[in-house]
This record gives sequence, structure tokens and C-alpha cells, in this order.
Amino acid sequence: MGPARLGHSEIAVSRLALGSWRTLEHLSREEGTALLAHAVACGVTFFDDARYDDKSGDAPIPTGWSEVLFGECFRAAGIPRDGVVVSNKLWWEFWPRQRAVEELESSLERMGFAGLDLLYATPPPEEMSVAEAVEEMAAVMAGGKVRTWGVLNWSAVAISEATTIAPSLGIEPPSVVQLPYNLVYRRAVEDTAMEVALEQAGAALVPAAPLAGGTLTGKYAVDPRDGRMAGKLERPAVRAAQAAAADLRSLADRLGCSNAGLALAFTLLHPRTASTLFGARTPSQIDTNLEASAVLERLGADEIAELRTIGSAP
Ligand SMILES: NC(=O)c1ccc[n+]([C@@H]2O[C@H](COP(=O)([O-])OP(=O)(O)OC[C@H]3O[C@@H](n4cnc5c(N)ncnc54)[C@H](OP(=O)(O)O)[C@@H]3O)[C@@H](O)[C@H]2O)c1
Repeated sequence: MGPARLGHSEIAVSRLALGSWRTLEHLSREEGTALLAHAVACGVTFFDDARYDDKSGDAPIPTGWSEVLFGECFRAAGIPRDGVVVSNKLWWEFWPRQRAVEELESSLERMGFAGLDLLYATPPPEEMSVAEAVEEMAAVMAGGKVRTWGVLNWSAVAISEATTIAPSLGIEPPSVVQLPYNLVYRRAVEDTAMEVALEQAGAALVPAAPLAGGTLTGKYAVDPRDGRMAGKLERPAVRAAQAAAADLRSLADRLGCSNAGLALAFTLLHPRTASTLFGARTPSQIDTNLEASAVLERLGADEIAELRTIGSAP
């Protein structure tokens, strides 16, 4: 599968993207570097970073160590900066004390990057209007350090409002909408108002958490302790994902592919998907996940219909 464009922007990305949540801080520098290098060697050209709070208690700074590690591993892997697309996020946590331009500057400093290809705005805090959020993004875009902007987990109403306001502030509407989307969690994306909002903005969809945190791979049926969802397997949403994983396994066995490849193919079937954002801890997980493009090409109409029934609410 060839690259896809990020909505109305000129930016092209691989159909599968690598995230960094709960990843690099759990790996050695060597492992993290090898992970990013492997992704690039396999054709991944879209990387998602973010300022995450440290959960280990070991990081030298309470927030944003994830960005430091991403930058270090990225450079150690020898990835040409202009050869890939890198995104990051604004959390508005210290707004209005810290304006968007300043939040971006702090992230860039920690990453050791001069700029970003894509900057997502997370939902505006209660005290901030959509217009104010778009104004902040307009200031960011005027600074020239970001090529395009997107939104993450915004409501359809807020996206439509931003689409209306953006041109009056001299910027394009958001070009990307990132939302969690997988076989067992569809409602944020498969919603008429959201589909209209995406269309109005001319935005691409970037589905996140496509493997339901790894549960859809079916690995917990083999070893309930091996993975980041271990200890959460009794939660209702995780139980639903495990049930879907079992159904996915029977279709995957018939097709001769992995659960992960099929689960990711499901997200690529959405017509607005530019690139699906998965997480991976090892190069071999990346290999398995990148099967998704080939799986997608092999799926016939009956298999797509069957895939769509898996994990769907009764
Ligand atoms: N917009 C949102 O609300 C939202 C929500 C969540 C995430 N995100 C973004 O989306 C990115 C991806 O989210 P995610 O990490 O939750 O995605 P995911 O793809 O659903 O889960 C990734 C995890 O599953 C396991 N895994 C991946 N491939 C595997 C394979 N082939 N076999 C076995 N296990 C495998 C790995 O964890 P273990 O091996 O440790 O089990 C990996 O860290 C994040 O980096 C974040 O930026 C966004």
C-alpha cells in the first residue's frame, strides 16, 4: 500500500504509524533505538510522540521524559528528520499561564527537534472555548515550527466549530483527527456527526489504540501475564476485547494471518483512515503489525463483513 495524505495537507505518511505511549521509558536506550530503526527500515514514516507523565517514579523529570527519550532514540537510530513525519500533542495543562506556543517550545526543547510535522490539540479545558483553542493553534502555525495541525479526541461539535472558525483566523481547519478506534471500541468514529465533521474539515482519521492495548492480538489466552494489560483482564472492556480476540483468531486461522494484522486491517477499512497508530514494544511486534496492509489487500467482501461482526455490540 502506498502512502496516504494527511487530510487536506500536503503531508504523506505510511498507512501504519508507531506510537510511543508506555514504550520507550520501559526499554533500554539500545532497545528503544533499535525499535525506531526497525520501524523505519520496514517502511514506517509516521511517528507519534507526546509529553507523558512519568509513571515509573524513575524519570529525572516528572513530565516529558518520554519526549527526551524519543529524541535521543530517534537520533541514535540515524533517522533522517526530513524523511519521516513526527507528531506531538498539546495538553493545555498549564494554560493560560503557558500558551500553546510555549508548550510547543518546551516539547521541542525536550525532544531536541527544531519543529514538528503535525501538532495535535487535545480537547480544550473547561475554561477555554473552541475559538480560543483555534486562536492558540493559529499562533502556533504563524510561528512556522509546525507544518499542520490536528485534534485528538475532540467532539464532533467542537471539530465542526473549529472548521468554521479556522479560516477567519488565517489557518486551515484541522487536517487530522486522532481517535481511539478498534473492533471493540467504535463509537467515537462510527458516529454520523463525527463523519460529517471529518468531511467538513477535510480531515484524515488516525485511529489510535487499534489493538485495544494489545488484547486483540489474543496473547492473553496464551499467557495472561505477558503484556501491559496483565492485571486488567477482568475489566469489562478488556474482557470484551479478549472475547473478540478469540473470534478474531478463528478468522485469522482461516486466512493464515495474525490476529494483529486483521485487527489493524479493520481500522484501515475506514474510508477516512490515513494511517493507523499502533504501539509496539519489540521489533517482532512491529513485523506482525505491518502485515495489516497485506491482509487488507487479501480480504474479500465476505471476509470484511465477517470481520466487521467481530467485537461489535449486539
Ligand atoms: N487518542 C487516544 O485517546 C489514544 C488512546 C490510546 C493511545 N493513543 C495513542 O495511540 C498510540 C497507540 O496506542 P496503544 O499503544 O494503546 O496501541 P495498541 O496498538 O492498541 O496497543 C499497543 C500494545 O500492544 C502490545 N502489542 C502490540 N503489537 C503486538 C503484537 N503484534 N503482539 C503482541 N502484543 C502486541 C504492546 O504492548 P505489550 O507487549 O506491553 O503488551 C503494545 O505496546 C499511543 O502511543 C498513543 O499515542 C491515543
